[in-house]
Amino acid sequence: MNTVDKETALEHTAHKRIKEVLSLDGDADRLTKFYRQWASTYDLDVVQYRYCAPTIVAELAAVVQMAYLDKERAATAILDAGCGTGLVGVELERLGFRLIDGFDLSNEMAEKARETRVYRDVRGDVDLSLPLSGYSASYDITVCCGVLTLGHVQPDRLRELARVTRPKGFIIANTRRSYADAACFADEVKRLEDAGVLVLAQCLYDGRYVAEEDAHYWVFRIPEKGRSPEK
Ligand SMILES: C[S@@+](CC[C@H](N)C(=O)[O-])C[C@H]1O[C@@H](n2cnc3c(N)ncnc32)[C@H](O)[C@@H]1O
Repeated sequence: MNTVDKETALEHTAHKRIKEVLSLDGDADRLTKFYRQWASTYDLDVVQYRYCAPTIVAELAAVVQMAYLDKERAATAILDAGCGTGLVGVELERLGFRLIDGFDLSNEMAEKARETRVYRDVRGDVDLSLPLSGYSASYDITVCCGVLTLGHVQPDRLRELARVTRPKGFIIANTRRSYADAACFADEVKRLEDAGVLVLAQCLYDGRYVAEEDAHYWVFRIPEKGRSPEK
């Protein structure tokens, strides 16, 4: 097989995997099993898929810290929700963040994130579709990259991301366009705004995400005195 054929074959395999994972209906057991098998080649596959979201999310976190937070970057506590193999953490560390925690449904993906050594704490077997026990409203910024997506996590879990973010802190999340449309993400944002859980601070619409599709990049601010997010 020549180099071009090899690259095409890799791309084909990556696209097949990604298509498959997006059809898992948020079923935790199937997602766990799928990511267990994918953990070792995930980073290579997403390069083939031209996945640039982790860099954009991390750069947005840096801008938010500079524009709005009264803390040094190295003292800004970040939670990487659905951290996967740690692609976002690596970018955050490159930009000077030092207090980065992460969690993921998959133990194997979480272990890869741990191996990057950029996280202070990484937990596996943590399901964002359930209440996040052990996490309180302590994070300055919560990032959620590639998780509020087809076959993964529903928009209403933004509430739980808001719960673990401190008042006047921020959530940065992306949603590929087809997910945002199909799951009526903007309607959920409106519901949460009306309930005083969060406020939309910025949105980069139709930003680069993967080869085949763009995504919206959302920045939410947690109000100073929010109502109880779990109600
Ligand atoms: C497309 S990957 C994104 C990983 C990483 N954030 C990135 O940008 O490379 C989706 C990740 O979400 C995790 N995940 C899926 N459902 C989840 C859930 N209910 N709770 C926590 N993590 C979940 C998967 O295990 C996987 O690591």
